[in-house]
Amino acid sequence: IKITIIDREGEAHVVDAPTDMNMNLMEVVRSHELAPEGTIGICGGMAMCASCQCYVLSHHHLLSEKSFEEEDMLDQAFYVEDNSRLGCQIFMTKELEGLAVKLAPEST
Ligand code: FES
Repeated sequence: IKITIIDREGEAHVVDAPTDMNMNLMEVVRSHELAPEGTIGICGGMAMCASCQCYVLSHHHLLSEKSFEEEDMLDQAFYVEDNSRLGCQIFMTKELEGLAVKLAPEST
């Protein structure tokens, strides 16, 4: 699928995201090097660091519900908005074609 990721500098990138690899959004960002190494995915996708926080700009109703762990982590994170999600908890599926997200500022 094609998704749009707006990086922390505000630049939009349309990238390919595979749907057959159980890949999450944080991994997509990393694979396209859209955030400097070491500033995203610090906990390895365990919903324990919030470095992968992003603002979801579309497809809200198609995303899975937040887990307790994700809610809990977002409660403790900085720059949280109503549309904040942890990128590592959003898995790439065909329904998300055209998804648009913006990376939250680095908080560490
Ligand atoms: Fe740590 Fe997503 S990578 S919470």
